[in-house]
Amino acid sequence: MKEKIGIVSDHGGFELKSKLIEYLQIKYDVQDQGVFNETSVDYPVVVGSACKKLLSGEFSNLIALCGTGIGASIAANRFKGIRAALCHDEFTAEMSKKHNNANVLVLGGRILAKDLAIRIIEKWLATSFEGGRHERRTKQLDALS
Ligand code: RB5
Repeated sequence: MKEKIGIVSDHGGFELKSKLIEYLQIKYDVQDQGVFNETSVDYPVVVGSACKKLLSGEFSNLIALCGTGIGASIAANRFKGIRAALCHDEFTAEMSKKHNNANVLVLGGRILAKDLAIRIIEKWLATSFEGGRHERRTKQLDALS
C-alpha cells in the first residue's frame, strides 16, 4: 500500500505543486488539498485547512507550498501539534525530521526547481525522528501554546 501524503499550495506554489504531484503520485498516495488553479487565494486559509486534516489524521505528512514558503510556514506553525519546516536543501529537510519531527515540509514554489524540490521531499520522507532528547524538546513546543 502506498504511503499517504497530503500536499497543499496557494497560487504562488501551484505550478511547482502540479509538477511535484506528477512525480510523487507514482510512489505515494498523494492527497491534493488544492489549490487547483492560479487564481489568487489567501495562504492562511488553504494551508490552515490542510493542517486541520493532518491533525485529524487524514495523512501523517503534509507538504505545503506558497511563493516563498514563508507565509505557509508561519500559518502552519500557528497550530498546536504542527511542526512545519521551511527547507531549501536536503540537509535541513533531513534534520527537520531527525531533530524536530517536522510533520509539515514547506517549500517555496517560486524558489525551488522541481528536481531539487523532489530531492528535498524524498530525503524528508525517508528520514525518521531520532527521539531521545529531541522528544523532550518537541513536547516543550506543544507546551508553548
Ligand atoms: C503570494 O503572492 C505570496 O505572497 C505567497 O505565495 C507567499 O509567498 C507568502 O508568504
